[in-house]
Amino acid sequence: MSEDGKGRTVELRYDGGDQTFPLLAGTEGERAIDVKALLSGTGMTTLDPGFGNTASCRSEITYIDGAAGILRYRGYPIQDLAQHSSFLEVAYLVIRGALPSAGELKDFADQLRTNAPVPDEMRTLLDALPRNGHPMTLLAAAVNTLAAYYDDSADPTDDDQVETATIRLLAKLPTIAAHIHRRTSGSEPIDPDPARDYVENFLAMLFGQGTGDTELDALYTRALDLLLLLHADHELNCSTATVRVVGSSDADIYGSVSAGVNALFGPLHGGANQAVLEMLEEIRGMGGDVDAFLEKVKAKETRLMGFGHRVYKNFDPRSREIKGLAADILARQERPDELFQLALELERKALADPYFTERKLYPNVDFYSGVIYRAMGFPTNMFTVLFAIGRLPGWIAHWREQRKDPATRIARPRQLYVGPTERPYPAQG
Ligand code: MLT
Repeated sequence: MSEDGKGRTVELRYDGGDQTFPLLAGTEGERAIDVKALLSGTGMTTLDPGFGNTASCRSEITYIDGAAGILRYRGYPIQDLAQHSSFLEVAYLVIRGALPSAGELKDFADQLRTNAPVPDEMRTLLDALPRNGHPMTLLAAAVNTLAAYYDDSADPTDDDQVETATIRLLAKLPTIAAHIHRRTSGSEPIDPDPARDYVENFLAMLFGQGTGDTELDALYTRALDLLLLLHADHELNCSTATVRVVGSSDADIYGSVSAGVNALFGPLHGGANQAVLEMLEEIRGMGGDVDAFLEKVKAKETRLMGFGHRVYKNFDPRSREIKGLAADILARQERPDELFQLALELERKALADPYFTERKLYPNVDFYSGVIYRAMGFPTNMFTVLFAIGRLPGWIAHWREQRKDPATRIARPRQLYVGPTERPYPAQG
């Protein structure tokens, strides 16, 4: 019987037999063939490298229509959230399923403020980590150890502990990230300031003077808030899928999120905006000749970074939201950033060239986020850390949703074995 009650099925005919499978429907009309009984019924598995055709769970958190360029969190279009909500409201929405009332938002923000400091022993640990280590490596290590500092909130089967861990993760990640940034950039870490809002406090810990009265640029605060919001979730991307896979073994939420940080660190996932900047440097090294660079891309001598997306076959709706922000930040600069200018020229020329539009290569969120972060003064090695802080609500929401889903089983894919068949062990002596 199909899930939507319409009794729709899909027939599989193969040499040796046939089998009927239920056809399931999502709330947006997406359809999925329920192949749970395939192996037991036919002796066959499916081969799907990268899981591009595999829905591994039902989820109520994020809806993406890649062809139409739609992204919604809990049903709300990303454009509306970007316009009307803050990152904290969206974090609450993604994790709890509904937008907070004013009172709920205040309580949530207060809990995060109170929990922002990290234990002294953890500060000692952070200070002992190699200063020249990549901030993502250090972040993953630190998040993993939260389970040890806070073993009173590491039991995945206890809802109260999960709730406490949720707040601790959201509250402490910016503090840990800022501590790492200050140390790797050679300055003294700054304690969280309970008088400040979440994003403002993060910026003050990153760039402040430590006096408590550091003036923050409102445009930069809004820019970071928006960038975090736009990254809050993206359904089963590599790091979120990793968090679910690790969590499916009943691993605690801290360890699962730490695994997500490591997945995000990969250059193909969270490292993409850093790759955009490296590409822009390459163009600068070519005397800023964007046309010559695009010809090299067409000749497959180099890669166009920040264009195209595994899921979006049209535009990435997140990139539209930050394009205006990029222009505002550029306008703010006394001396226009050369890489920023090159990015805008590259975008304009690639979008006017059928070679790229026919291949559906439109700018994605990574194309703009790196240049904005750079203009705000972030070193390149912090870009992925910012992505991690933004993605944290999504990781937490998916981990929690999975635990409440009765269909959850430990992740255990199959393989198509293509190695040697049985062969005799070489004769001895
Ligand atoms: C993301 O936001 O995680 C990236 O766009 C990658 C993805 O969704 O696969």
